[in-house]
Amino acid sequence: MKIIDLRSDTVTLPTSDMMHAINTATLGDDVYVEDSETIKLEKLAAKIMGKESALLVSSGTMGNLISCLVHAPRGTEAIMGHKSHIFIYESGGISAYGGIHSHQLKNHFNGTIDIDMIKDAIRINDVHFPSTSLVCIENTHNKCHGFPLELDYINSVCAIAHENNIKVHMDGARLFNACVALDESVDKIAKNVDSVTFCLSKGLASPMGSIICGSADFIAEARRIRKSLGGGMRQTGIIAAAGIVSLNKMINRLKDDHDNATYLANGLHKFPGIDLNIDYVPTNIIFFNFNHPNISSYDLVNHMKSHGILFSDYNGKHCRLVLHHGISRHDVEKVIDVFNKLLS
Ligand SMILES: Cc1ncc(COP(=O)(O)O)c(C=O)c1O
Repeated sequence: MKIIDLRSDTVTLPTSDMMHAINTATLGDDVYVEDSETIKLEKLAAKIMGKESALLVSSGTMGNLISCLVHAPRGTEAIMGHKSHIFIYESGGISAYGGIHSHQLKNHFNGTIDIDMIKDAIRINDVHFPSTSLVCIENTHNKCHGFPLELDYINSVCAIAHENNIKVHMDGARLFNACVALDESVDKIAKNVDSVTFCLSKGLASPMGSIICGSADFIAEARRIRKSLGGGMRQTGIIAAAGIVSLNKMINRLKDDHDNATYLANGLHKFPGIDLNIDYVPTNIIFFNFNHPNISSYDLVNHMKSHGILFSDYNGKHCRLVLHHGISRHDVEKVIDVFNKLLS
């Protein structure tokens, strides 16, 4: 039985093109900046992003942590959404390793935070307060239905931050999903932020790795901090070779994942017990609440598992399904069929 794994797009496996590229990669020591594949990937990423420089790191979490450590001196404050990945899912790393104080503001359903709330949250110069050094935004927003941030919104956040001498970091783990959904080029989306991370290992299907992009000075400091965190990984060409394939071949196909998400959401939202807003499926992520008189969400997850269908269930109520390269339209039809047999 084929496992249809909808828990996350992190489960994607490398393509045969990636395996070939990995096998034939020319390797060197990346701590000495001598791994030619890695240098090639970083140059390509910086060019696509319209930034001076880029750095390969092991994960999105490491990319966000390093970016925050560079931008936000110890004891300063970083503004971020209360549903942001950095706040919820990164083990409090910015506080543990950087002494950075997080100031959480309410995320709307689409991942935005009111611009006026950001403005009001910026600290005045007073000994009682930490100074505000950073605003973090997330694009697409994982916990907010995978919504992409509109260009105007990003630019408004950057304007208010920069007027106050504050940096902006964009957690773009799924940034290319945002580009595809908005039909915008990534350099336009990233133009005004001071740094951006994106993941090679999610929808872009590389086995591992994320990239940080920013100014040359920012990346030089990020490289130093990466080393101090134990992130100097030596023959990283085996990661970079796959990453180059991700950037050259795997971006445009993300639209298939978005179309499959829409198709699946349309199939599921009619079933009793499923509370799913089909207008809230802008990219590859589907959330629904499950409330059925006879079936608990625990039973639902286990029943689906017995049919080879995996997805996430949060707090016994909230379910998340993520579409990706490993899921075909045929798989989506099977998922709808199994839900139908259980719930109709
Ligand atoms: C929005 C967002 N940021 C960062 C990350 C962290 O990426 P990684 O799992 O590579 O550390 C994730 C992972 O799912 C994510 O969804």
